[in-house]
Amino acid sequence: MADLHVEIRRERGAIAGQIASELRGAIREGRLRPGVRLPATRQLAGDLGVSRGVVVEAYEQLVAEGFLVSKVGAGTLVAEAARRGPEPPRTGAETGLPFYGYRATSPDLTSFPRERWLASIRHVLGTVPGDAFDYGDPGGVPELREELAGHLRRVRAADVGPDNLVIVGGVAQGLSLILQVLGEVGLAVEDPTSDRQKPLLRRAGAELVHVPVDGEGLDVAALSASGAEVALVTPAHQYPTGVVLSPARRAALMEWGGLVLEDDYDAEFRFDRDPVGCLQGLAPDRVVLAGSVSKSLAPGLRLGWIAAPRHLAKAVRRARGELDLGSPVIDQYALAHFLRTGGYDRNLRRMRREYKTRRDALVRALAEHLPEVEVRGIEAGLHAYLHLPRGWDEQVVAEEAQALGLSAEPLGPMRHRPGPPAIVVGFARLLAHRAPDVVRALKVRMSGQSID
Ligand SMILES: Cc1ncc(COP(=O)(O)O)c(C=O)c1O
Repeated sequence: MADLHVEIRRERGAIAGQIASELRGAIREGRLRPGVRLPATRQLAGDLGVSRGVVVEAYEQLVAEGFLVSKVGAGTLVAEAARRGPEPPRTGAETGLPFYGYRATSPDLTSFPRERWLASIRHVLGTVPGDAFDYGDPGGVPELREELAGHLRRVRAADVGPDNLVIVGGVAQGLSLILQVLGEVGLAVEDPTSDRQKPLLRRAGAELVHVPVDGEGLDVAALSASGAEVALVTPAHQYPTGVVLSPARRAALMEWGGLVLEDDYDAEFRFDRDPVGCLQGLAPDRVVLAGSVSKSLAPGLRLGWIAAPRHLAKAVRRARGELDLGSPVIDQYALAHFLRTGGYDRNLRRMRREYKTRRDALVRALAEHLPEVEVRGIEAGLHAYLHLPRGWDEQVVAEEAQALGLSAEPLGPMRHRPGPPAIVVGFARLLAHRAPDVVRALKVRMSGQSID
């Protein structure tokens, strides 16, 4: 059993991350050698004076990264290959870039269907002709466009065929490309909206106009009055508020004369009723649908699609070719195989069940321990919008939640106009059995906040 020296600085928060970082360093430097057994989580938690959940989180992180292995009956050991192990994800502080991992909308990456994906990669490598290793069609390999078109018709009620689909490196790149093609347009974005998307939209040449979102979704009357020619919307599950665009507003948006960019980022996860079909299926000549596998599989695959009217799809395909000659071909074939053999649907069903359980556990724990916090926007997706009592500082709440290992973000940077204090919290990585402890701990941390 390892005799560990782990130093944590409580005032810096994110204790689980600190523990993981200390252990990672010890393994890298050889102070913890392969095969060494780590203390039981309860014991280390006791030694460090932290809750057991925090140590569990740190261990789970290192298991996911390949530094540790967890063996039934033997506990948690330093992995044999650990010193040659993978680099940990680099944080914003190290790269000087915004940290894009573990956002409130991130899926549970430890649940990635490794075996099935490996089977698809293996199949592809064993069967594709040599030509497959050449540059592919910049619009995406035809097999994938065919499979995806079928999937989007079935699951999202999209009106799409292989010829109006373009494979891209995620929604982010899809939006960049379509905006490049459209030229300098007035682009309406929802207020609040994803703060990480705004720089990308501006870089692509769009001039942003902020249109408010209320309890029914985007205010379409305000959109009409804004003079924008193009609108970027998240109708199935507004980001960040989680509002589903109401039927009346959907109808009004379809009456609006401009081009709609439909960011369908998390619509495959709908928990309490059938998914709302996408807008694109209603008006394929005026809506561009953008989606990706970032929530259903993993953001790191950087695989997404846009479905656009034929002339726009052609222009985007050309733009993609001119930009970087297209997406990795082997991964596209693998996704096509994964879709064709039912792996994608099976994974969706499995994760829908799991995320619903985690969402329900979080909601129950909040109702019990922090009833003054109002939970909204949880019909779909991987995050909840928490409306905070007046007087609470959303930045502080988000930081306290982050320190407990939650993926939490304050609303402030996402708002154009000021609004009531709120945060978004991801539940995809919060195991159901840990929700009560984490929320109870948050309550303790928040006890210093003034509540009107
Ligand atoms: C609102 C919104 N749109 C889209 C995405 C997905 O982007 P991508 O498909 O480029 O990974 C995210 C990811 O967090 C998001 O929050």
